[in-house]
Amino acid sequence: MSLDTLADAFYDELCDVYHAEKQLLKALPKLAKAASDVELRSALENHLAETENQVSRLEQVFELVGEKAETKTCAGMAGIIEEGSDVLGEDASPVLDAMIIASAQRAEHYEIAAYGTVAAWAEGLGYTDAAELLRETLDEEKAADETLTGLAEAGINSAAGGSEAVPGRARTAGRF
Ligand SMILES: [Fe+2]
Repeated sequence: MSLDTLADAFYDELCDVYHAEKQLLKALPKLAKAASDVELRSALENHLAETENQVSRLEQVFELVGEKAETKTCAGMAGIIEEGSDVLGEDASPVLDAMIIASAQRAEHYEIAAYGTVAAWAEGLGYTDAAELLRETLDEEKAADETLTGLAEAGINSAAGGSEAVPGRARTAGRF
């Protein structure tokens, strides 16, 4: 399609993020299954349920703007998922959990950028209801990202050996 107007660009980005979400629907269950931390697993399962809802929200947005819901290959999310799937063959461990969080947060940040853009463009184009729906998803993505940060900081990073990574700290501790 030709991208002559902001409305064209908006539709193009909607198709892109629609595909990003559909890819996540397949990837999140694999990440959740690989997680050994119970809270991490339930956070990923919870976000899977949210993602299903985000897909239907996008379908409502397509309807509101009078366009067909179509996917456009989202190479960005495909790359993030491919990188993340490298670790899925590893044995369950706190290090693997820390890597799952790293991968899931990359996906969330990609979506935060995408939804920030389409919500602003929807507003600019006068699609107020669509903008509202897109902002709801944007807020969910931000909350999911914060939950993952919270889990990392609450113990997964240190269980993975985070305190040993501070140079000098182990030596000092050993002296006493
Ligand atoms: Fe999402």
